[in-house]
This record gives sequence, structure tokens and C-alpha cells, in this order.
Amino acid sequence: MPDFPTEFARSMPKAELHVHLEGSIDPRTTLALAERHGVAPPADDEQGIREWLRFDGFPSFLERYFFVCGLLRDPDDFALVAEAYLLSAHAQGAVHVEFHVSSSHHIIERGADWTEILGGVVAGCERAESRVGISSLLIPDLSPHLGAAAAEQALDVVLENPHPRVVALGMGGPSDTWRTDDYGRVFDRARAGGLHTVSHAGEHGDAWEVIHALDEFGAERIQHGIGAMSDPDVVARLVDSGIACDVCPRSNVALAAVPDLDGHPLPQMLDAGMVVTLGSDDPPLFATSLLDEYANAWQMCKLSADDLVGLAGNSLSNSFASPEMIDRWLADLSDVSF
Ligand code: ADE
Ligand code: ZN
Repeated sequence: MPDFPTEFARSMPKAELHVHLEGSIDPRTTLALAERHGVAPPADDEQGIREWLRFDGFPSFLERYFFVCGLLRDPDDFALVAEAYLLSAHAQGAVHVEFHVSSSHHIIERGADWTEILGGVVAGCERAESRVGISSLLIPDLSPHLGAAAAEQALDVVLENPHPRVVALGMGGPSDTWRTDDYGRVFDRARAGGLHTVSHAGEHGDAWEVIHALDEFGAERIQHGIGAMSDPDVVARLVDSGIACDVCPRSNVALAAVPDLDGHPLPQMLDAGMVVTLGSDDPPLFATSLLDEYANAWQMCKLSADDLVGLAGNSLSNSFASPEMIDRWLADLSDVSF
């Protein structure tokens, strides 16, 4: 197996469609935010934070994720982390990032002012765009552990504050309440309000979740989607519809959705003809990066350079950027040579 062609992969224009703003905060920024707000940091230096970020299972992951969320207090904090991640993504060759933002956590659980959060995130996106030209859009995510009424309230606030960068409503978090709570109405309202709709599904659960996300939420992209592999009919449905799965292999290993990279179904997903894009999900929490995920896919699926270009192309053409921008990036991608 040839070595992963890192510089070639970096040179490919690509989009990252599955990364959580709050999960993208690196150890240095975590320390800076803790100091800014007089919060005792979980460790004294970056290496210590890296060690603290090692968790065992979903509950301890969420503990750390929400500790870091709690360090985001002012618009400047949101601007700082958005800009920092976009500069890092740019350094990996990303031309476009769609940030999932844990909106129902901020709006409902913390009672934060969404207009301030949005203002901060947008300022960070604009700064990164003016410094390095990277494009970025936002996907406010609902978290189903708060229930459907909270989801309605969070959506109300999102819809009351339309912004050209806010392009879709998403669903993240644990999926336990999907069978008892009706989120279909929330997604219908989001679409009526002009938003696209996407959803995490088939991360820990099976193909039922993917069907639910498609039929009840009208998901236009699925985050993860690896559970689809439990039902060939659902695989066929994803292939026929061309609905993309935004897959994050290292996240799936770290959160024990699969035992290890060798046991990840990405090769079968590609063999079946599913449309896949690669994302890093919460990169510092999983000790990964966008380029690392291309390297993982290279290794796991015995890819060729053309396959890498295909994955980058999927990420561009399945983004919510304008058709003109997508065409320009795809033209740039076709100029990249191995
Ligand atoms: N929010 C942040 N990371 C997540 C994940 N891996 N699954 C569900 N929700 C998330
Ligand atoms: Zn995710």
C-alpha cells in the first residue's frame, strides 16, 4: 500500500460538512478561554488538556464537550473559535466549512442570547474569509435530549434571526427520544422558513434512524449514516437518491460506534456506491483532523489518488454553497494533478 500522499490531499480544494464549532476548539484556545473567564482549566498546559480530552464512551465525551461549550460566553469567544478553526481548515486545503452549532444547548439550556452568538460566529467567519478566502456556512443543531418543545423554541429563535450564513437546521446529540417525540413539525417549519435540513443518524443506531431522518426530518444529508449498512434497502435508497453521508471514521472509533478503523464500514459504503463526504466531527476531542480522515480513508479503503479527488468532489458538490461557487471549486479540483 503506497503512503498517503499528504501534500496532494492538502492541495485538493475540499469542503468539510461535518464539524461542530464547539467541538473544534483546540487545547491552546481552551486554555485561553478558561483564563479569559477566570475558570479553573482542567489542566495547566496543552499536553494536559490533550490528556484530559481522552474519554471512555459517550457520557464522558459529552462531559468534556459541554465543559468546553461552557467556556464560550461572549461574542468574541465565538469569533475566536470560528476563526481559529477556519484557519486550520484552510491550512488543510479546505475552501468551505459548514459548522454545526449546538443552538438548542446555547438558547435553551444556557439561556444565551442567540443574536450575540450569531454575531460572534459570523465575525469569526468574516475575519477568516478576509484573511485566507475560506467560505463558511452555519447549521444550528437541535439536541433531542431537551425534547420537542425545546426544539420548537430554539427553532423560533433561529427563524427570528435569519442570516445568509445560516443555511440549514440540523439534529445532533443522542437519538433516544426520536421514537417518542415528534420532531417532524420542527423540520417542516424549518423548511417553510427557507432552511435546508440535515440530521445525525445511524451513528450508534441502525438503519431505522436513517429512515427516520429521511422520512420524518426530510434530511438532505446524513451525518455519519454508518448504521444504514444494517439494511440493504436503506443502502439502496441512499445510493438511488444520492443523499450524502458525512462520515467521520475516527469519531466512530473514539465513541465506540465501531471497534476500530479496520471494523469501520466505510469500504462497504463506497463499494455500494453511497455518496460519502469526510469530516472530523470534533477534531481535538478525537485527536484527528480533516486531513487525518482522508489518510484514514486511504488506508482503510485502499484508495487511489482519483478516489481522493472523488471524495473531495463529493464534499464540494453536496455543500449548501451556491452553484456558482461549487462549480468554481470543482473546476479548481479538476486542475489538481497527482
Ligand atoms: N455533537 C457533537 N458531536 C456529536 C456526535 N459525535 N454525535 C452526536 N452529536 C454530537
Ligand atoms: Zn457530529
